[in-house]
Amino acid sequence: MNTNTTDDAFKNAMARFTNGVTAVTTADNGAPAGLIATSVCSLSADPPTVIVCVNKHASSHDAILRSRFFAVNLLAADQKDVAQRFASAKGAARFDPAQWTVGKTGAPILTGSVVSLDCNVIATHNGYSHTIFVGEITASITHPNASANCLLWHQRNFAAAAVAAA
Ligand SMILES: Cc1cc2nc3c(=O)[nH]c(=O)nc-3n(C[C@H](O)[C@H](O)[C@H](O)COP(=O)(O)O)c2cc1C
Repeated sequence: MNTNTTDDAFKNAMARFTNGVTAVTTADNGAPAGLIATSVCSLSADPPTVIVCVNKHASSHDAILRSRFFAVNLLAADQKDVAQRFASAKGAARFDPAQWTVGKTGAPILTGSVVSLDCNVIATHNGYSHTIFVGEITASITHPNASANCLLWHQRNFAAAAVAAA
């Protein structure tokens, strides 16, 4: 048994959690902006809310604070290239012009994703290095890829969700 509580032990433990990979998107002075995030979780059904934890140093952190909206786009297993583009490009160059549209709130909606949650920010909380954004969902948008397996982040690698046999 290892009862370590160092920074590395924390990170190694968290790496064992498997999460869906999302692109959290917003608008920054009219231009699309966003980040890849796995710290996304449902909060309440009434009202329908999600929370997203965003590092205060992330380039789109202040854009979400200013715009007061974001979309959570759950990536499909075949969208690893989208995640890689978000990691390698900056600002609006993270977005393939043919692959997004504008949601009701003004947030970029990635049309190749599985589902997009278009949210207004209704609360923010201090989460130390991160801000916890509470988003009220104004629209849940399913895409042609809605039945695709989603992209996962597991043990610091991308993986594809697979439905386990009964
Ligand atoms: C799989 C994966 C999950 C991530 N999850 C989060 C997250 O939940 N919150 C967050 O602030 N950054 C997360 N990041 C880091 C951001 O995507 C981004 O790289 C970082 O904030 C720097 O962004 P910037 O280049 O826009 O400043 C994640 C990165 C990867 C690859």
